[in-house]
Amino acid sequence: MKIYLSLITAAALALSACGQDAPKPAEQAPAAEAPASPAAEAPAAESSAPAAEAASGASAEAAPAADNAAAADECKAVVSSDDAMKFDTAELNVKSSCQEFHVTLKHTGKTPKAAMGHNIVVAKAADKDGVLADGAAAGIDKDYLKEGDERVVAASKMIGGGEEDTFVVPVAKLEKGADYAFFCTFPGHSAMMSGVVKVVD
Ligand code: CO
Repeated sequence: MKIYLSLITAAALALSACGQDAPKPAEQAPAAEAPASPAAEAPAAESSAPAAEAASGASAEAAPAADNAAAADECKAVVSSDDAMKFDTAELNVKSSCQEFHVTLKHTGKTPKAAMGHNIVVAKAADKDGVLADGAAAGIDKDYLKEGDERVVAASKMIGGGEEDTFVVPVAKLEKGADYAFFCTFPGHSAMMSGVVKVVD
């Protein structure tokens, strides 16, 4: 702003230098200040441009999720996890009218997968211990999940801090009357990271 004002001053001086006896340049000086507001707005417009880019960038990132948006809102859920070894929900309500139920697992922490990895595995509550034991035996290279484990109804990837993964629960595979659970198969996590899967109308 100071620079701009000094430019105006310089311009005013230049103008008055041209016609010393003419009162006009002096009168024009206030007029010359008028453009100051559009000019002052220009930097503001520039600074808002990155914000606009950020916004469009965000929507571009959201584009893959647009596929999920095609599915009705009622056919999807978001579960957040963190560095404190917790899910933010203890209950996953799957609507029976959904053919596919999309679940997005987010890891809002900062710790890498190898130290604080999380996944969501959906299986019958009765199968949970077996899936966990075989998953632990499979090791980190297999994301702590036995390959081709038929007890697993659905599973996300194992993710680390800052990551997310969306997976599909095939609703028809959930037998009526059976109890289902969701849990993280990272060794030691299921004590804290477990919940109930309910099929609701
Ligand atoms: Co975990």
